[in-house]
Amino acid sequence: MKNLVFLPLFLLCAMAAAQNLNLIPQPVEVRAMTGNYTLSKTTAVSYNETGAKEVAEMLAAKLSAPTGLTIKAQQGKSAAIQLTLNATADAEIGSEGYKLEVNAKGIALRANHPAGLFYGMQTLLQLLPNEVERTKPAQAAWVIPAVQITDYPRFGWRGLMLDVSRNFFTKEEVKTFIDLMARWKFNTLHWHLTDDNGWRIEIKSLPRLTEIGACRVPRMGHFGERADPQPGEAATDCGFYTHEDIREIIAYAAARNVTILPEIDVPGHSMAAIAAYPDLSTRKDPNTRVNPGTHFSEWYGNGTFKMLVENTLNPADEKVYEFLDKVFTEVAMLFPNPYIHVGGDECYKGYWQQDEGCQALMKKLGIRHVEDLQGYFMGRVEKILQSKGKKMIGWDEILEGGISPTAAVMSWRGVKGGIEAAHLGHEVVMTPTTFCYLDYYQGERTIEPPLYAGLRLQKTYSFEPVPDGVDPKFILGGQGNLWTEQIPTLRYAEYMTFPRAWALAEVYWSPKAKKDWPDFVGRVEAQFARADAMGMNYSKAIYDPIIQTAWKQDQLWLEMDAEARGLDLFYTLDDTMPDDHAARYTQPVELPEGPITLRVQSYRDGRPIGHLITLKLEELKRRGGR
Ligand code: ACM
Repeated sequence: MKNLVFLPLFLLCAMAAAQNLNLIPQPVEVRAMTGNYTLSKTTAVSYNETGAKEVAEMLAAKLSAPTGLTIKAQQGKSAAIQLTLNATADAEIGSEGYKLEVNAKGIALRANHPAGLFYGMQTLLQLLPNEVERTKPAQAAWVIPAVQITDYPRFGWRGLMLDVSRNFFTKEEVKTFIDLMARWKFNTLHWHLTDDNGWRIEIKSLPRLTEIGACRVPRMGHFGERADPQPGEAATDCGFYTHEDIREIIAYAAARNVTILPEIDVPGHSMAAIAAYPDLSTRKDPNTRVNPGTHFSEWYGNGTFKMLVENTLNPADEKVYEFLDKVFTEVAMLFPNPYIHVGGDECYKGYWQQDEGCQALMKKLGIRHVEDLQGYFMGRVEKILQSKGKKMIGWDEILEGGISPTAAVMSWRGVKGGIEAAHLGHEVVMTPTTFCYLDYYQGERTIEPPLYAGLRLQKTYSFEPVPDGVDPKFILGGQGNLWTEQIPTLRYAEYMTFPRAWALAEVYWSPKAKKDWPDFVGRVEAQFARADAMGMNYSKAIYDPIIQTAWKQDQLWLEMDAEARGLDLFYTLDDTMPDDHAARYTQPVELPEGPITLRVQSYRDGRPIGHLITLKLEELKRRGGR
C-alpha cells in the first residue's frame, strides 16, 4: 500500500507545482521545471517577423510599466524574451495555440499566428506576480517560474455577449470589456446593439434610428416596473456608436484577437426602431417611444408571453425589407465578422395575428399558423445577408419556422435547440440560460440585487457544450450572455461577469478531461488577488453560505455549504449576531419549532469572509417547499 502511494505522490508533487501556477483557463499541457527567469534591466523582447510586432510591443509596454524597467521590443537580434512566428506551422497548436518555455536564460514563445503569441503573452502575464497588473512602478520579485507549456483552445468560438441597448456603455467602456475578455482568452464579442430600449448603431441612410431610437426618457428602478414616458417628456438618456467609433472598437478588438459579432435583433425586440419609424410595425402607432423599462410585457411561464406594446416589424410590408437592406448594408460594410446576428428571439405574434396584411400574406404563402410567418421573415433576412456576403446566425427560435441549411443557431433556451440544429447540420453556438446567463444573480438570493433567476459559479463551471450524441464538429463553441436591464455601470458589469466568465473561459478553452472544480475554485481565488491588483470588480459570492432546507415529515432541516473551500460557517438561531463562538455547521441541523431567524457568517482562518446572511422562518420554510 505504502509503495502504491509513494509513486503517485511523486507525480502529484509535480502536478501540484503546475497547479500552483493558478492559470485560468487551464492550459492543455503544463510541465513545471526547476529554476526561474527574473526580469532585469537587460531584458528585452525580440520578434522574428513583422506579424509579431504588435504583440511584442504590447508585452514590452505591459512589463515596463509596473517593473519600472525600460523593456524594449526589437525585430531580429534575439533577446531574453523571444517571440517567434513559426515558419512552418506546428500542427499541434493550430491557429490560436502557442508553446511557451521559460528557463533561467529567458523565455521562448512560439505560435503559428499572432493570435497564439497574444494568448501565450496572457499566460506569461499570469505567471508573473499580480503586481504586473499595475500601471505604475510597483514592488515585486519579477520572477517567472520555469515551465514548458503547450496550449491551444478546445473551441474556436469563445464568446461573451454585451447588451448595450438596455444600458449603453461608452466606447472606452466597451474597450475595457474587450480587454477583460482577451485576458482570459475569449475571442468573440457578441454586441447586442439594438432592442426595445435603445438603438445603438449609427445607420447613415436611416438617421432617425439614432436621432430618435438612441434616446429614452431617464428612469431609475427595477426594469419592467419603471414609469411610462409621459406625453411631451424629453428623451435625454442617449447613446450610440458612430461608424468611426465602431471602426475604432473593431480595430482595438482585432489587436486583441477578438472579433465582434454585431446583433440587430429582429423581428421582435424592435421598439426603438419602431419609435424612429412607426411604419415598420403593423399598427404604425406614432406614439411609440423607446422603452425605458416599463411594464410592457406579461409572462405566463413556459416562455409564453404577451407584448402590451407592439415591438415587432411587419413581415408583410416590403418597406420593412427595404429598411433591413439599408441597415444590413452598413452593418456588413463595418464588421469583418463573417456572421451577422439577426436575433429572432421572443417575437410576439399577436399584432401579426390581428393584421390584415399579415393574414393576406399567410394566405398567399399557404401558412396556417402565424408562428410560421417568422420563418418567412427570417428567410427574407437571410437572403439580404447573403447578398452582402454574410452568414446568418440567430437565437434558437429561428429553427421554428424552418431555416436554410447555411444559417447558424445560438442555443439559449437550454441546449435543446442546439441539439436539434446540430442534427440538422447547422453550426451551433451554445449559450443556455441554465449555465451561461451572466445577468442572473450568482449568490444568496436575499442579498443580491433582485433578478428572476440565479446561477452559481459551480453550475456555470459544470457546463459541457457538446451534448451526448451530437457531432462535435457542429458545435462552434459557446458564450456567456450579459443582459444589462439591471446593470447600469461597467463596474457592476464586471461584478456580474466575473468570476463566472472565468468558468466559461475554461469550459471553452481547456480540455474537457482537465475539468476539476476544487482545483478551479482555488485558482479563482488566485485570480481575485490579480483582479484586485488590476482594480477590476468581481463577485465574492463563493464565500457566502449556500442555505437550503428540507422537510422530513413535519420537521424542517437546515443544510449549508459554500463554493469556496476551507470555510467555517457559524450560525445562530436565537436572534444574536454570529461570530466564531457561535455554533459551527458540520452536518444537517433539525430546526427547532418557533419563530426562529437564521443568521450565518462564513469565516476562514478565524476571520469573517463573505456576507452575513439572515433568513426568517417564512423563507426557511419556503426553501423547503412549503
Ligand atoms: C434571449 O435571452 N432573449 C436570447
